[in-house]
Amino acid sequence: MSRENVFACFILVYFVKCAVGLALEPIPRTPAEILKSDGYPSEVHHVTTEDGYILQIDRIPRPGQPVVYLANQLFSSAAAYLILGKGKSIGFLLYDTGFDVWLGNFRGTNFSLTHQNMTSSDDNFWKFGWHEHGTLDNPAIIDYILSTSKQSSLVFMGHSMGATTFFVTASERPDTLSKIRAAFLMGPATFLAHHRNAALSLYHPFANLTRTVADLSNHHRQPVEFIRSVIDKICNSARKFSQSLCRLAGLSPDDRILPDIAIFFPAGGSFDQIIHFAQLGDRKWSGFRKYNYGATKNRLRYGQDTPPNYQLSHIGTPIYMYNGDDDSWCTSEDMMLLKNSLRNVEKFYFSPRKDFKHRDFVLSDTAYEDVWKEVLTDLQLFLNK
Ligand SMILES: *[C@@H]1O[C@H](CO)[C@@H](O)[C@H](O)[C@H]1NC(C)=O
Ligand SMILES: *[C@@H]1O[C@H](CO)[C@@H](O)[C@H](O)[C@H]1NC(C)=O
Ligand SMILES: *[C@@H]1O[C@H](CO)[C@@H](O)[C@H](O)[C@H]1NC(C)=O
Repeated sequence: MSRENVFACFILVYFVKCAVGLALEPIPRTPAEILKSDGYPSEVHHVTTEDGYILQIDRIPRPGQPVVYLANQLFSSAAAYLILGKGKSIGFLLYDTGFDVWLGNFRGTNFSLTHQNMTSSDDNFWKFGWHEHGTLDNPAIIDYILSTSKQSSLVFMGHSMGATTFFVTASERPDTLSKIRAAFLMGPATFLAHHRNAALSLYHPFANLTRTVADLSNHHRQPVEFIRSVIDKICNSARKFSQSLCRLAGLSPDDRILPDIAIFFPAGGSFDQIIHFAQLGDRKWSGFRKYNYGATKNRLRYGQDTPPNYQLSHIGTPIYMYNGDDDSWCTSEDMMLLKNSLRNVEKFYFSPRKDFKHRDFVLSDTAYEDVWKEVLTDLQLFLNK
């Protein structure tokens, strides 16, 4: 492996280690088990996308009541919306407030690892990003939820990448957008050019290189796991250069297991997801753009050299946005850009707690006081309009 590649791998590890901001600590239990242990009802459903992925949808059923669909975050699953338990996590809070709660698991998450014609050990299974969550997964999930619950529309809710996918769906699938009566979005990662995230800054120059490595080695799945195995090899080799890199990355040569990375496994995820976020983190271009394949492939796919922006100005759906003051991924500058690209923002809220971070929506013990209380009030007001 060339020096450049080795360095890129370290940068990627650093990125992913710090990406806890976007990614969430998975827990080794299914949503249904979490719900059951807290005495809540649960159902497990499956839906097949038009390109053959079989997705699990979890439900905390309240048939006949208004439906809220929660879309999952990067390297995460429906479990993240339940992780803090009753009275704290939004899944429980929504059910207790009287909603029929549906929790999606996008392709590649731990609970959605099957496909009609491929196994998840086939590298082709992993050639997707969050563009596909927005264009293919959300439409299938939303149609399934509506037909099963016999409703004509639902409320979309999502944190981080979950919220990102709302805008992809809105841009690319007007047929699905018309079934969403309102979108409640927390830390919607869209415009990222003003981010203050050190890991994203470090990773950005190497994102292309890691894509090349992924393509050449046919390894598009679980970028973190792949990188960890590379690091394990390098850090345990006797070569001086590698060892100094290991120290640079803050690892001792015998540090085979990186505990905060290990918790992600095997939560699932693909290279394209993080590469696309890194592309949005480009300081030079401030836009919420489609994936950049390079000029030649862009021309084939988009009919132009550079990727087009996602279309946002037509969205008539009421949008409620909740942000954290200390969110290094979704800064107030970028959230303003998003707000100004939309024509129907009903709410633009910043948590009063000044140190509220990206992951606090799902991992902070005080998230109810900081933000969910406000969300539930707004949601009820909206539905009673
Ligand atoms: C994912 O699934 C595997 C295999 O079923 C299981 O061992 C692991 O604990 C699960 N991880 C998470 C984060 O749920
Ligand atoms: C899976 O294979 C069947 C049988 O060959 C085919 O009809 C179907 O279109 C395939 N599905 C996908 C998503 O490729
Ligand atoms: C990555 O590749 C794209 C497409 O070829 C190019 O436009 C972009 O400038 C590259 N980014 C970096 C940081 O080199």
